[in-house]
Amino acid sequence: MKRFEKHIFICENKRPPDDPKGCCSDKGSPEIKAKFKQRIKELGLKSEVRANTSGCLDACEFGVTVVVYPEQIWYGGVTLNDVEEILQSHIINNKPVERLFIKHPNFNKDAIKI
Ligand code: FES
Repeated sequence: MKRFEKHIFICENKRPPDDPKGCCSDKGSPEIKAKFKQRIKELGLKSEVRANTSGCLDACEFGVTVVVYPEQIWYGGVTLNDVEEILQSHIINNKPVERLFIKHPNFNKDAIKI
């Protein structure tokens, strides 16, 4: 039996303010992770869905970066306002939110169809 049906990783990497790569933490990822966790609890999904902090996912220019497994769906530019849509559409109804996909060819090419 699988421990979790879906696992949501939210990059919370933090870099110094003068680092040219920037970081997801400065774009609000700690609040986004907290909202994912809060809503997963409120929706009664805690036994099936887990949201976890991730270190740098090597997609810094697209942050805030979020990746969902087992589908390997990479989301970029995620904001607090997108959390509910990802949960309702992707996590609950298995319809990934295409408008938030990272469009670079290195991402989502291996995504598993659901
Ligand atoms: S800092 Fe978030 S992907 Fe690198």
